[in-house]
This record gives sequence, C-alpha cells and structure tokens, in this order.
Amino acid sequence: MKLRTIDNLDVRGKYVLLRDDFNVQIVDGKITDAFRIEQSMPTINALRDAGARIAICAHLGRPKGTRNMEFSLRPVADFMNVPLIPDCLDRDFMANMHDGDVVLLENVRFYEGEEKNDPAFAQKLASGFDLFVNDAFAVSHRAHASTVGVAEILPSYAGKLLAGEIESLSSVMENPKRPLLSIVAGSKVSTKIGVLKALAKLSDAMIIGGALGTTFNYAQGHKVGNSLFEADQKDTALEILKYAADNDCKILLPLDKGVAKAFARDALRENKAVDAILEDDIILDAGIDTTARNLGAIDGAATVIWNGTVGMAEWAPIWSIGSFSIAEQIAARTRDGKLVSIVGGGDTVAALEACGIKDQMTYVSTGGGAFLEFIEGRVLPGIAILEDK
Ligand code: 3PG
Repeated sequence: MKLRTIDNLDVRGKYVLLRDDFNVQIVDGKITDAFRIEQSMPTINALRDAGARIAICAHLGRPKGTRNMEFSLRPVADFMNVPLIPDCLDRDFMANMHDGDVVLLENVRFYEGEEKNDPAFAQKLASGFDLFVNDAFAVSHRAHASTVGVAEILPSYAGKLLAGEIESLSSVMENPKRPLLSIVAGSKVSTKIGVLKALAKLSDAMIIGGALGTTFNYAQGHKVGNSLFEADQKDTALEILKYAADNDCKILLPLDKGVAKAFARDALRENKAVDAILEDDIILDAGIDTTARNLGAIDGAATVIWNGTVGMAEWAPIWSIGSFSIAEQIAARTRDGKLVSIVGGGDTVAALEACGIKDQMTYVSTGGGAFLEFIEGRVLPGIAILEDK
C-alpha cells in the first residue's frame, strides 16, 4: 500500500492538525510508559523543523463523550513540555502561534462526536487547519472523526511513525524469512480468532500460550482447574487446530504449567504437567518443559511474530518466567543477526520493557488492537483513507 506521506511537503506557516496516539499508561498523574510518545517525536520534529504550526489531537482512555478530567491529557502535555489547549474545538490559540510552535489539544474523546465520527464534529475539529497528518497507527483501526472524518475534509497525509509501521509490518507479512514462528498468547480466544487464523495460514509453527493456551488445552480434554479460560470457545479452538493442520502450521500448545492455589503475586509456585492439574489449581505461567520447548522453537526460527504474554508477566519474578524467557531468547537471537523479530501489544511490549530489551527487537509496534487487525489483513479505515491511489 502506497501512502501519501509528509516527505517533501511544504508546511511552512501552515496550520497542521496532527493525530497522535498518546493513549499511554498513567499512574498517579505520571506517565509510566512513554513509548508511544517517543515514537511520535520524529514526525513532530520534522514538521516543527519545516516550520509548521502544529496542534496535536489525541485521546486518552475511554471517557465516552464526557469531560471526565480523570482522562485529561495534562500529564502528556507536561511530559512533552507543550501547552495544553483545554478544549479541542477552541481555535483562539491559533492567532498566537508562530512557525514551529506545538500545542496539544485536550482529549478528543471528551466529545461524543469523536467515536461516532459525526460529520459536524469532524468539520469543527478540522476548522482552521490547512492539512491533516495521521501518525496514530495504534488508533487507525477506529473510524473516528479524528482518524477518518477530518481526513475526508482536509488534505491528509501519513506521518513517519504510521508509514514506518505499515512498511515494517507489511514486509514481514508479505515476504517473511522462514521458518516463521508466531507466538500468540493473552487472555481471550474470542478476541483473537481472526489473528490466530491469519497467523496459522502464514506461519510454519505457532506457539499458543497464556489463558489462550489453557482454552486450547481444555478443548483437548485436559483439566484446567480454577484458571482463566473460555469454556464456550472449545469448538473455536478445535476449529483453529484443524485450520492450522490444513495449512501446514505446526501448533505448539502448553505441555505443563506454573500453578498456584491462590491468585496472588506471591503465591507458592508448583510445576504441573497439563494432565496433572487439579480442580483447585490456578494456572499463572507457562511450565518448565513448555518454556524449554518454546526456546527451542525460537532457536529454529528465522522470523518471530509475538503478541501476548504466556502468564502473569506483570507479577515478576515468580510468574514472569515463561514470558521473560521468550523475550530474552528472542532478543539474543535478534542480536546475533539470526532472527527478525516483530512484537506488538501493550502487555508484550511491557514485558520487553521490564527486561530492558525493547530496543533489541527488529521492530516493536505501537499498536495493540491495530497491530492485530493489520496482521489479520483487515482494512484499517484511518490508513485506507491515506492511500495514494
Ligand atoms: C490503543 O490503546 O490500542 C488505542 O489507543 C485504541 O484505544 P481504544 O481501544 O480505546 O480505541
């Protein structure tokens, strides 16, 4: 897909509405993971250096069309050291802007019209601007006013982050170095059916882990105790196994698990084979044999696509063993030049961050849902509208 980009665009003195995804984790008013903001900087800097007058439009959380200050972008404005315009439809600030100035507009989801892609709201949001740049890959799967509506009104372009995501992900999807191993984990089969099928079709092998893996174990008749899983997805899991077999994709399911008697960070850890799990066991991590098998699979791969942690990775060190082992092995193989590694999804990127190896992957996507939908081969409305036809 060829996109209209900001390269060679004359933006001096122009008012640019820039959509970024600053939906970052904030704890006690402080940003705990600035990855998306950092990745947005090359476009902001390029536009600034070229003399644009930039108003960044972004969302935080899901305030559902109400002005709930719990979802204010104030911490982001402070972090970036730029003024926050308290109402994203206010245009008074424009009169005082100079070439190269940057402001951040308050949460666009404070208005109902945003998620509804209301044309009247999009018109107001676009007013006063000369052009629109979308650099918010992570929200481009949403047909909202700030991703699609304004792009229908203003001359619109893809920013560097968005264009880079499409280029990196497309090249792996279209022409992967083989063998290609996918690692898909996380909590719900129901939200990942599409991506599981798409990756089963594309990959030579696929590790299915986490609660997702537990559902597959259950579908095959294993006891899963008191663990998180989806009983109603049994048939879907079996269907995906058949689909993978039909497409010559070897599926690697959990062999054993790290289990506890309590759902607690400091619970006592035991290792149990999948056929030895008791009614009161709670699965919280991949087991020892599963982890060894996973590391072997990574060693045999030339490309890895990873989404989803295989246990409670946020409960380090006891329950992060399975996920951190995968992360470290992928990093080591990538460092050695033996592996192309593509990682996406909030929890997975957080695991890389916790291991201090995020910068050792070939490519880390800023997208969660958008990353999955892109891999699934779906049309992302915020991107389709930027296509250079
Ligand atoms: C994300 O964090 O994945 C994006 O910002 C999209 O957020 P949403 O799922 O609330 O639309």
